[in-house]
Amino acid sequence: APRQLPPIEDQLKVINEVAEKYIKAATPSEEDLAIRKELKEDLEKICQQVSPNGTLELFGSVASGFATVNSDLDLIFCEDGEPREDPFEVPIKLTEKLKQAGFNILMLPKTRVPIIKVNSTPDPNQDTSDPKKAIAVDIGFGHKSDLAFRNTELLQTYAKCDARLKPMVLFVKWWSKMRKINNTYRGTLSSYGYVLMIIHYLINIVKPPVLVNLQSWGIPEGTPESEVRHKDGWNIWYWKEHKEQELLAQNGGITSNKADIGLLLRGFFEYYAKDFEWNHHVISIRTKGGLLTKVEKDWKSAIHRSNKAEVEYKDRYLFAIEDPFETTHNISRTCSSTGVKRIRFEFNRASRLIHFFSGEQAFRDTFFEEA
Ligand code: CTP
Ligand code: MG
Repeated sequence: APRQLPPIEDQLKVINEVAEKYIKAATPSEEDLAIRKELKEDLEKICQQVSPNGTLELFGSVASGFATVNSDLDLIFCEDGEPREDPFEVPIKLTEKLKQAGFNILMLPKTRVPIIKVNSTPDPNQDTSDPKKAIAVDIGFGHKSDLAFRNTELLQTYAKCDARLKPMVLFVKWWSKMRKINNTYRGTLSSYGYVLMIIHYLINIVKPPVLVNLQSWGIPEGTPESEVRHKDGWNIWYWKEHKEQELLAQNGGITSNKADIGLLLRGFFEYYAKDFEWNHHVISIRTKGGLLTKVEKDWKSAIHRSNKAEVEYKDRYLFAIEDPFETTHNISRTCSSTGVKRIRFEFNRASRLIHFFSGEQAFRDTFFEEA
């Protein structure tokens, strides 16, 4: 006989409790943030030994406010003027300097652009018993006008529009890390990808919508061209009247949707388990309706590319999430065929667990069980 499900309020109670508890535990303290700030300043000094006029700029979750205690520090060493002839010149010199300074350089992996992975492991004479002291840092190379800063700001603005986005992001990040489907080097998806999946759900799927599409408004007259078009041609405009949005958020958001986090998460997992067409759809948060098709974008078979240093990398379209500005960039290009299968399996698992078992205490252990 079919199992009698507990009333939906009871099911959601546990999810909300779990979410609240985890969000408390995951949110970085003032001290965590201060340690990161200090580390950034130390690293900047070393970078400036290689290129004195450059600055080290923050983006990613520590900048957007979606950081957890485990988040890495995403940095770009920015130099003014034309890009260098050899994009690996500064990275190679810097790698040497960082090694001399006692930093642990993890790898220079196959990426579209040079990235140095630093681990802030303190020197061996210090007490290393506190794992929080070892902070993972990514250093990229670029310019202050880079889209990474722009998309970080876009996420930050969405977070200001509705207070439920941040806790949802933290919940999904934790889940994806525990279930081992948040690792771009192992064929799965970045945190950034999961955030775009959530934003798409909140703009286009949940009814009534929780977020409005900030990129599909008419551009106000008199907006300076520099706010509209990036130097590489991308349309970078979005609605960013922070003050107005903060006020709206304080007054319950722009939306009439008053669902709690539990209900929104339930719908989020269900959408990607049941309705989203992984083989056909492209998630596109900039587009009205939020979906394009792979055929329409000509995102079908994998393309082998190589960067200026002749390093080979692969663009795959097995799972497709369009970057909100750089619309030729597939955020989920890192997903391998088994990676996508595992992600889909996990959405199904999560949705089933929420649907059938979220009323039970054992749910908390099962849902976030380490895969
Ligand atoms: N980014 C990107 N394209 C990707 C992945 C990431 O442009 N395919 C950029 C985005 O600007 C994003 C930033 O890199 O904001 C950081 O990405 P990621 O580390 O995945 O996200 P975080 O929010 O920093 O997550 P975590 O806390 O797990 O580090
Ligand atoms: Mg990060």
